[in-house]
Amino acid sequence: MDLIEAMEARHAIRMYTDEPVADDVIAALQSEIDTCNTESGLHIQMTTGLNDAFLGLKTHYGRFKGVHNTIALIGAADGTNSGWTKEGSEDAAATDPGEIALQQTVGYYGERLALKATQLGLATSWAVLDDAMSAENPWWTLAPGEKIVWVLAFGHGARPGGKHRSKPIEDLCTIPEGENMPDWFRAGMEAAMLAPTSLSQQPFHFTLHADGTVSARATEGLFAHVSLGCAIYHFEAASGHTVNWR
Ligand SMILES: Cc1cc2nc3c(=O)[nH]c(=O)nc-3n(C[C@H](O)[C@H](O)[C@H](O)COP(=O)(O)O)c2cc1C
Repeated sequence: MDLIEAMEARHAIRMYTDEPVADDVIAALQSEIDTCNTESGLHIQMTTGLNDAFLGLKTHYGRFKGVHNTIALIGAADGTNSGWTKEGSEDAAATDPGEIALQQTVGYYGERLALKATQLGLATSWAVLDDAMSAENPWWTLAPGEKIVWVLAFGHGARPGGKHRSKPIEDLCTIPEGENMPDWFRAGMEAAMLAPTSLSQQPFHFTLHADGTVSARATEGLFAHVSLGCAIYHFEAASGHTVNWR
């Protein structure tokens, strides 16, 4: 399964069976986590085979069942390990540059892991664990200054997922006036439209500038910068083009 096929096959799955994830699949995921941590400076961790990997914590929304395996997306709360941000923000809930950088980096690398898990034949769902910072005896460890909010549940799905509804492409991007949309940009946008976003809000906007550079910004939405990071990963992976970010 290539990455585009994985993007099409991935849907948020919130119920899992008790079937354990095979050891070789766990090893492949751990190897991808190690690579993501090295590249990003994040401190992503994984647990498998627990009775309740969410530790009884409430998710921001949605009902989860049978979550035995989870990836915790952890990073420095001030975003110091998160090397990049794209264009500015319209998201009133995240105005701090460190928070923005952390959210975007978590989205980008978390989605890379979600697609890897999909390629390995697993189901996934993003979730927000509301009180993760005050969990008792958590399976993850936080270095000083780090925080955990977002997690990825994964495993064998108990039911199939469905395709989410998308806003029209014209609402999610801008191209130079009077020009046709280049194929690589359209491919990137079509992939970005398949990305998971909180509450399916698609709070992102991509702009192709006349000089061929691209910028991407978050619009209003819940955890908009995490969703933007997911969309940017899809865009880059599908455009078949080294995107020249502005
Ligand atoms: C940053 C982020 C946070 C999310 N948080 C939750 C959550 O707390 N609870 C939940 O049930 N789903 C959560 N989701 C999953 C989205 O609701 C889901 O991805 C979206 O509805 C699109 O559906 P799809 O993933 O099937 O394409 C989250 C997704 C993202 C990207």
